[in-house]
Amino acid sequence: MSNKFLLAANWKMHYGPSKAHEFIESFVEQFSPGSEKEVLFFPASIALTAAVAGSAGKKSGQAISFGVQNIYWEEKGAFTGEISASMAKEGGAKYVLVGHSERRHVFGETDEQCAKKCSAAETAGLFPLLCVGETLEQREAGQTEAVVVSQLKNGLSSLESPSSSVQAIAYEPVWAIGTGKNATPADAATIHNVLRATLVDMFGATVGAGIRILYGGSVKPDNARELLDAENVDGLLVGGASLDVDSWLSICSV
Ligand code: PGA
Repeated sequence: MSNKFLLAANWKMHYGPSKAHEFIESFVEQFSPGSEKEVLFFPASIALTAAVAGSAGKKSGQAISFGVQNIYWEEKGAFTGEISASMAKEGGAKYVLVGHSERRHVFGETDEQCAKKCSAAETAGLFPLLCVGETLEQREAGQTEAVVVSQLKNGLSSLESPSSSVQAIAYEPVWAIGTGKNATPADAATIHNVLRATLVDMFGATVGAGIRILYGGSVKPDNARELLDAENVDGLLVGGASLDVDSWLSICSV
């Protein structure tokens, strides 16, 4: 079975509402959606509604989706600075990134917190997009497979019905993020095969095969095709190269 490619732009802490709106307007103007691809944007939360509005009423706008980069697991309350899954959904999000390496390494997010966020997303009807990946030290110590498998199992451990709530996960080696050093397609395939086997083990053959596994880490227009051609790579999660309309259009058109 081959999955529809998911091409996801992680804008991190770039672009406020006006720039996000302008970017999406320009993107939908030029993008020709194919039936084999889905395009997804993760703007900053404050720019989500402006980004969504940028795609309104355009034909190709229907082929794109939006998400937020983080949520808190409680539904509401005295949690200054946080947003809930239902707020994100109301703002137009369909997905939420969980456990991105910057959340894990800059903000100390743990596997346990990732599991709570995935569960909260599921309850609100948002798709959690769990990210896993090893640091350079872990890679050099030969721990890559053990690290990513444990992050995957722990992160998705509390879901009630993974068959409908998980659409995609992402493998992002920490040493490849924002460094210009991407994993080779062969290296990506090795880890994606391990993740696929783990998903099948956790959720059975049909569900496990249908969850898309994105690769992220220094994806650029000139390496996107070879990475997408690697075994069990069903899409890309792109930071830096998604911040320029032309560069992102060319990745979405490979
Ligand atoms: P990068 O970031 O494409 O700039 O390496 C990817 C990510 O952090 O999702």
